[in-house]
Amino acid sequence: MDKYLVYGNPIKQSKSPFIHTAFAKDTHQDIEYKSQIADPDGFEKAVEAFIHEGGKGANVTAPFKEQAMAMCDELSEHAKYSGAVNTLTFNNGKIYGDTTDGVGLVNDLISHQVQLDGSRILLIGAGGAAKGVILPLLNQNPKQLTLVNRTILKAEDIVLQYSGQPIKAMSFSEANEQVFDIIINATSAGLSGEGVPISSAVITSNTVCYDMTYGKHLTPFLQMATELKAKQVIDGLGMLVGQAAESFYLWRGVRPETQNVLNNLRKELNQ
Ligand code: ATR
Repeated sequence: MDKYLVYGNPIKQSKSPFIHTAFAKDTHQDIEYKSQIADPDGFEKAVEAFIHEGGKGANVTAPFKEQAMAMCDELSEHAKYSGAVNTLTFNNGKIYGDTTDGVGLVNDLISHQVQLDGSRILLIGAGGAAKGVILPLLNQNPKQLTLVNRTILKAEDIVLQYSGQPIKAMSFSEANEQVFDIIINATSAGLSGEGVPISSAVITSNTVCYDMTYGKHLTPFLQMATELKAKQVIDGLGMLVGQAAESFYLWRGVRPETQNVLNNLRKELNQ
């Protein structure tokens, strides 16, 4: 039986063991997937020990995504651009790193019939969560990807990485004067019950509003979108399942069906 782990600190909240175990059952893959806490300074040692025991791969969540990247012998394009790794594959003594969050987001948007080709996208945030989704979004050929962040310098720095691509950074006040088809909140503001300084004029019945976080209740950003009757209001639960599906595919070469798992997680969340 091939063994996989998810590392994080904290890790108790992780849905990954549930998701991957369900994927394995559905696709008849004989794997074991568990969660493991690592000490802030013990991550590398823990991974090395797991490889030594014959582990085949691991997911990595906060705060280890950058450390995971530093351990890799080879990185995917997505990992290089995002500066972080959420999926490690151990093969022939080498560590291969990828990040599947962005593909998870894009696949979730596509499954909600959101048109990305030719769209004007506003991405709010310039932390790890935002960086991880930029290349996959640009690969969908949007008309424009606009980055806004409380600390605008961070957004401007990111844009420098993508010369020649339709991406730009601007302030909230500038963005509040523009029209967007899709607004994606990649800040952690919602986790502490805070909103983002987006003007109500920017959200219309033609705007898709997506928050990369999820919870029992809508984030303040999605509450605002609901009140303003946005075209679609979507939280990040589908992205969570989507990134897991992409990791599973990298490891096993089989694409799991995601809808059942998503429905079960949604039911559990609403209890
Ligand atoms: P993550 O890995 O979740 O992206 P992070 O790297 O700490 O976490 O980044 C958090 C992001 O949320 C940043 O873009 C941060 O803005 P700053 O760069 O200005 O700090 C943003 N953020 C957090 N709380 C916010 C709030 N209350 N309002 C607006 N932006 C917020």
